[in-house]
Amino acid sequence: MPIGGGRGVTRILAVANQKGGVGKTTTSVNLAASLAAAGRRVLLIDLDPQANATMGSGVDKRGLAHTVYHVLLGSESIAAVRVAAADCKYDLIPANRDLAGAEVEMVNLPRREMRLREGLREVADEYDFILIDCPPALNLITLNGLCAARTVMIPMQCEYYALEGLSDLVNTIRKVRANLNPVLEIEGLLRTMYDPRNILAQQVSEQLQQHFGEKVYRTVIPRNIRLAEAPSFGVPVLYHDRLSKGTQAYLALAGEILGGEPGNPPVSG
Ligand SMILES: Nc1ncnc2c1ncn2[C@@H]1O[C@H](COP(=O)(O)OP(=O)(O)O)[C@@H](O)[C@H]1O
Ligand SMILES: [Mg+2]
Repeated sequence: MPIGGGRGVTRILAVANQKGGVGKTTTSVNLAASLAAAGRRVLLIDLDPQANATMGSGVDKRGLAHTVYHVLLGSESIAAVRVAAADCKYDLIPANRDLAGAEVEMVNLPRREMRLREGLREVADEYDFILIDCPPALNLITLNGLCAARTVMIPMQCEYYALEGLSDLVNTIRKVRANLNPVLEIEGLLRTMYDPRNILAQQVSEQLQQHFGEKVYRTVIPRNIRLAEAPSFGVPVLYHDRLSKGTQAYLALAGEILGGEPGNPPVSG
């Protein structure tokens, strides 16, 4: 696994967890913005019909003629669908409700799990990082994300049922690796909405480290109101309140992914 996201090697990460509300979209948008702020060329792909990553990047899902749906169905190229999320400093493949129908429509298409992967080829070289925000399901749309990616980032809340859901996801990743995408690996597990005063959260966090060791990011994302507010302004938290704990946490995560130490964000000031 190349470290540092250097030019020439595109790191393609699927942000996935079949549970909803664990911080996938918040992580996708804010990690994309943090990597872009560190000077990396970033493409964010919204694979959720709810289109929260699209709206959270300041792109209005209602005004879109073409979306990731058309890429999956093969009627538009990815370059034709791509928009600049200019205020966020990254590019976006947007989504809208159309995507909800894609699953049924793709079922009989050839290489139905590989539609995104094949579409991405055209533009992959233009980026250092491609982040894929997956929907809260282990469905054909998510499979397209897992087949296009090289690694999976798993955001999770440290609560009682979290570990149970994790084994389904890990099994799915194993099956995808065995049958569809032999290079796929777990990039890391990210503890989100973390409250260090919560004893259960501490215990789940310890279990996670026992099971997954080095795969658990040292950076922890705290519960932070600014992270929840930022989408209503259509910007990543970095451009909503740059001194917030949420901003600092996602900059630190970007630093960790780029090979630095947590707590030392890749940009300053
Ligand atoms: N670290 C955090 N602190 C506070 N609120 C958060 C945090 N992470 C996510 N949220 C909020 O929790 C909700 C679910 O997060 P989201 O990223 O949409 O999850 P998912 O994409 O996994 O469904 C959203 O309202 C989001 O604003
Ligand atoms: Mg989401």
